[in-house]
Amino acid sequence: STLGASAAERGGRYFGAAVAAGKLSNSTYVNILNREFNSVTAENEMKWDATEPQRGTFTYANANRIVNHALGQGMKIRGHALLWYQQQPGWARNLSGSDLRNAAINHVTQVATYFRGKIHSWDVVNEAFEDGGSGARRDFNLQRTGNDWIEAAFRAARAADPGAKLCYNDYNTDGINAKSTAIYNMVRDFKARGVPIDCVGFQSHLGGSLSGDYQANLQRFADLGVDVQITELDVAQGSNQANIYAGVTRACLAVARCTGITVWGIRDNDSWRGGENPLLFDASGNKKAAYTSTLNALNAG
Ligand code: G3I
Repeated sequence: STLGASAAERGGRYFGAAVAAGKLSNSTYVNILNREFNSVTAENEMKWDATEPQRGTFTYANANRIVNHALGQGMKIRGHALLWYQQQPGWARNLSGSDLRNAAINHVTQVATYFRGKIHSWDVVNEAFEDGGSGARRDFNLQRTGNDWIEAAFRAARAADPGAKLCYNDYNTDGINAKSTAIYNMVRDFKARGVPIDCVGFQSHLGGSLSGDYQANLQRFADLGVDVQITELDVAQGSNQANIYAGVTRACLAVARCTGITVWGIRDNDSWRGGENPLLFDASGNKKAAYTSTLNALNAG
């Protein structure tokens, strides 16, 4: 009867939403959140700029509003995101070399330790690969500290919170392409060398079609021995929106190691995608056709 309950009945999966702390005082928003979802991701509140605005000074008040709400409702929490090229605090953007590397690893250690025991899955590293056909790492300050920055981050996160699943998370990976294959090769290498990685997040910010190999792509990662999760799902409004939501849901259900789906916001007006109306509830909080198609997909089979 709800997204969360239906997902739970399908192999204990979760159905989550990105949540903004500032909206937890909005009753329409909170009513939908509490009714429909059994997992949350902080949309911005656990990012580097939010949690360590000055070097060595950690602020968790807004993150904790989301964590406490979720724990009070028995919801899982996805941690997002320990290291990313965006939303770095100004002080970190100006660092380089070993100073930056040490600051980044310290950040991972401090934040993962602070939330230890509360986080179901952490996005340890977010969006570290280039778009397009190169398959290259994204060129930015952390990458310039050495190619091993990602594995160093995963090792630090494991040491800080051994109970959390540790994910690599990215977008434009919604099919078999150069970017997803580069990530696949990294995960395969990490598994071969014992670098602690447990899951890969597929953001799935989608337009007017769903890649025909979406499910096959999830499956090839699962076959490496990691869980896969749909982490930031939203789909541009259009005639296909309901079908695409259903297709993503069916793909996750068809992959045994696809453990859950998160939509990137609750109502259309909560979305970062402005006028695209990409979510499951309209601005008044009414269920859209995409909600019904998603719920039906969860309940089928
Ligand atoms: O908090 C400040 C506020 O103090 C200020 O007055 C206001 C003025 O612009 O900005 C507020 O910060 C904004 C923040 O969202 C909170 O609302 C930032 O400008 C804005 O850039 C930020 O956008 C977020 C974006 O990440 C940043 O890159 C979106 O909410 C968030 O949905 C989006 O989420 C990302 C995922 O983390 C990673 N994957 C892609 C996804 C979409 O971009």
